Amino acid sequence: MLDDTCSLWSDGLSRENYGTSWRAQLKTPWGAAHLDRVALVDGPHIVSSAKRYDLSLRLDGRIRRVLGIGAVFTAEAYRGRGAARELLARLLETAVTEGQEFAMLFSEIPPAFYERLEFVPVPLTEWVIEVDQKRGGAPGMLVRAGDERDLPSIIEMSALRATGARLALDRSEDFVRFNITRKRLLSGLLPSGARTTEFLVAEEGYQAVAYLVATEQDGRWMIEEAGDRDPAGARLGAILQAMLARHPSEKLPEIRCWWPQSLVPPQLTVAAATPTQEVLMIRPLRDRLLPLPPLTAAEVVYWHSDYF
Ligand SMILES: CC(C)(COP(=O)(O)OP(=O)(O)OC[C@H]1O[C@@H](n2cnc3c(N)ncnc32)[C@H](O)[C@@H]1OP(=O)(O)O)[C@@H](O)C(=O)NCCC(=O)NCCS
Repeated sequence: MLDDTCSLWSDGLSRENYGTSWRAQLKTPWGAAHLDRVALVDGPHIVSSAKRYDLSLRLDGRIRRVLGIGAVFTAEAYRGRGAARELLARLLETAVTEGQEFAMLFSEIPPAFYERLEFVPVPLTEWVIEVDQKRGGAPGMLVRAGDERDLPSIIEMSALRATGARLALDRSEDFVRFNITRKRLLSGLLPSGARTTEFLVAEEGYQAVAYLVATEQDGRWMIEEAGDRDPAGARLGAILQAMLARHPSEKLPEIRCWWPQSLVPPQLTVAAATPTQEVLMIRPLRDRLLPLPPLTAAEVVYWHSDYF
């Protein structure tokens, strides 16, 4: 399965490091209990395979267990014969027996294929943001590397941000740790300097009051996830100002994010907002009548960190 999918989804890792990253993800507490790969086989041949995640979603105020499907792949010799469809149908069937109530995936192909399987798109917006640079100076605020002790505060900030949304992942400490680990593995296994992952917090009274996880590659930043205890988000904006002030002579990076629309720190302006390239899709599993009235992008909180 790794041989088949490496050229498409290794994010630039060598085949060996792609395998290392996968095995390491499975050794994390969250990965060990919530992630695996499944395949449809024909004797010794792998026909079609996929990644399977066990996610927890807050949808219209209720927590639902959700099957997350990723990396659907059919070997070229078997394509166009319904193999992917069969694999997906079996995945959905198993999910029902395991008590999951919805299935979710990100489509990288035109969504018609998944629409035929009753998935509907969820609108997500990618923003390009600009940061007011405070005339190049760093704000007078302590910003330090985030670590283990910050996770409880991060979960609180995350949950606070999700309460007003109709659709948001229910993010546990293990899940956040898993996602940061996944980003760090990718940065660490690529050639040195190709990509960096930063996890920063602003602290007050020994407690993280704002945080940010960002990745940088080729002069582009992606804010993977972020939070601020204060709804106005000013300390989060100040973290970004501090990051930019570290390298005043460098060309300004392009900064992108899948940012909740309710959180716009005063130091930021939105330069562009477009639908995300990868289309998030969802469908109920058991009960076709489970209400899923159309969602707007403003009602969804989904961090790029949680893209699978
Ligand atoms: C997409 C993929 C998994 C389909 O596998 P498959 O076993 O051939 O799929 P099925 O036979 O069940 O269904 C075929 C349908 O897939 C859809 N499809 C396949 N490739 C597609 C593509 N690149 N763009 C849009 N639709 C595509 C078509 O609707 C096709 O229907 P058709 O045969 O009537 O034209 C396979 O082409 C593949 O592995 N592609 C590379 C990896 C990939 O892009 N995966 C999807 C990630 S979201």
